[in-house]
Amino acid sequence: MRYQLAPLYCRPWTLNGISPRLIESHYENNYGAALNRLNAISQEIEQLDFSDSSDQSLARLKRDEMALLNSTLLHELYFASLGGDGRVVPDTLASAMARDFGSVDRWRQEFVGIANGLAGGSGWVLLSYVPRDGRLINQLASGHDQSIAGAIPVLALDMYEHAYHLDFGANASAYIAAFMRNIDWSAVMLRYEDAIKVAPPRPLEQKQFADVPSISVEEVRQMLKSGTSVQIIDTRPKHYTAKAQDIMEGAVWRDPERLDDWIGTLSKTEPVVTFCVYGFHIGCETASTLRKAGFDARYMSGGHFA
Ligand SMILES: [Fe+2]
Repeated sequence: MRYQLAPLYCRPWTLNGISPRLIESHYENNYGAALNRLNAISQEIEQLDFSDSSDQSLARLKRDEMALLNSTLLHELYFASLGGDGRVVPDTLASAMARDFGSVDRWRQEFVGIANGLAGGSGWVLLSYVPRDGRLINQLASGHDQSIAGAIPVLALDMYEHAYHLDFGANASAYIAAFMRNIDWSAVMLRYEDAIKVAPPRPLEQKQFADVPSISVEEVRQMLKSGTSVQIIDTRPKHYTAKAQDIMEGAVWRDPERLDDWIGTLSKTEPVVTFCVYGFHIGCETASTLRKAGFDARYMSGGHFA
């Protein structure tokens, strides 16, 4: 694979308090150099003779490839984060920040705080969206090769010295302030809109129990809180409950192997929730048997552990 240089997105001469010389040096000497090294390493990996090279040297090349690939991705995002006036966060993004950080101000304090914490060292500060959790999060990455798996960065602040030393010397906080004054919020907003379209990981599915409905711990908690009558049956195997004496509030333990003995004590007019240790096999099987016998039974996902 041959990686292509992305054009410099921001117009260096339009930035407020960050010189064109700094941006151009950063783009050519750091981003450009990383891209060239990435291409060289990819070629080296492609041409590797596996019969004549050690696994250690392959691992080293793959580590370098990851750091360089991530460096190019983050630098492209960094340059694409600049070019605005940093002032107004668009409404959709502002309400997402209020939801996930408390307010735009709190987001800003956290983001800038992380950056100041990195001053004198190096790394990245990223605002990322995590599809699994449906939320934004600020992330510190102390190297090019660290980021949250599955998260989608939408704003990047480069805290390597090369990103500010030419203009600001050791005064990293002046650089951070200048960065904040140049954020292109409308571009960040478009990236956020793209990020939230990414589907979360598909739910884990137990194919053999696909037709048995489940209920979450939170839903059960709500039922208990609202005073809904519900029969909660802990069906952890006997050998397991002997070890773990704690039992969920509101639940009664019943031996899953002796279902015939206790099924008659259950009411058909009230819902039944069953669970085992992790909410897999036994809890599902019990719920399935109870449903066949005409009970409104569901298994609690995550089980006793959840
Ligand atoms: Fe950089």
